[in-house]
Amino acid sequence: MSEPAPIAVIRTQALGKVYSPGTEAEVVALKGVDLSIGRGDFVAIMGPSGSGKSTLMNLIGCLDTPSSGKYECDGVDVSTLDKEELATLRRDKIGFVFQGFNLLPRMSALENVAMPLGYAQIPPAERKRLAQEALAAVGLSERAGHRPSELSGGQQQRVAIARALINKPPILLADEPTGALDSKTGEEILALFKRLRDEDHTVVLITHDAEVAAHADRIYLMHDGELHEQTGAAA
Ligand SMILES: Nc1ncnc2c1ncn2[C@@H]1O[C@H](COP(=O)(O)OP(=O)(O)O)[C@@H](O)[C@H]1O
Ligand SMILES: [Mg+2]
Repeated sequence: MSEPAPIAVIRTQALGKVYSPGTEAEVVALKGVDLSIGRGDFVAIMGPSGSGKSTLMNLIGCLDTPSSGKYECDGVDVSTLDKEELATLRRDKIGFVFQGFNLLPRMSALENVAMPLGYAQIPPAERKRLAQEALAAVGLSERAGHRPSELSGGQQQRVAIARALINKPPILLADEPTGALDSKTGEEILALFKRLRDEDHTVVLITHDAEVAAHADRIYLMHDGELHEQTGAAA
């Protein structure tokens, strides 16, 4: 077998982030982070509160820019992009899932899922078809017309995952996605992530819970802004 090494979907080199540099409020939140994550990888990033997990997620998700080092997202050096290009990259490459679901309460599941689709480019019937397809992919076809308040926590998180997947991004970034769920429901969400991994999505899961992290193929530990792969007695 002599296939070329695949490009990492997420690749950081000596990535650093300093908040309020040169002031009394300066915080060095990320130090020299080297990370390489391929297509179809499911990795977890663990670490205590304040260790820099969300800072790293914001950089990987192109929501913020690094103070030093380099980040290549699906082969593109993000430092070469202007604001608009960065927004386009974010839309096409990354789906976000958060602890609090962040669904709009007055909209149906279907409308929530369709939100990230551009209104200008995609006609209503096509929006509806794509949203229905995404809801089906998370097993929620029967709940398309329900509002968030009419759904369980696990169902709401599945709607949020369908919304994250609507533009078919290769990368799914999840910050404490099971934090608001009981452990059985959390396991269902983790099973869904494994299925997405098997369908060649790259899943990055941020958690402080070792049992949750154990579902991933690889675990990284964050401590005081430094990232290390967990080695030894594997999960
Ligand atoms: N916008 C910000 N401005 C200044 N400091 C910040 C900001 N965001 C996070 N920090 C600081 O950076 C460090 C890492 O925070 P964060 O990435 O949120 O950690 P975690 O997600 O692991 O809890 C903390 O000391 C936090 O107080
Ligand atoms: Mg955080």
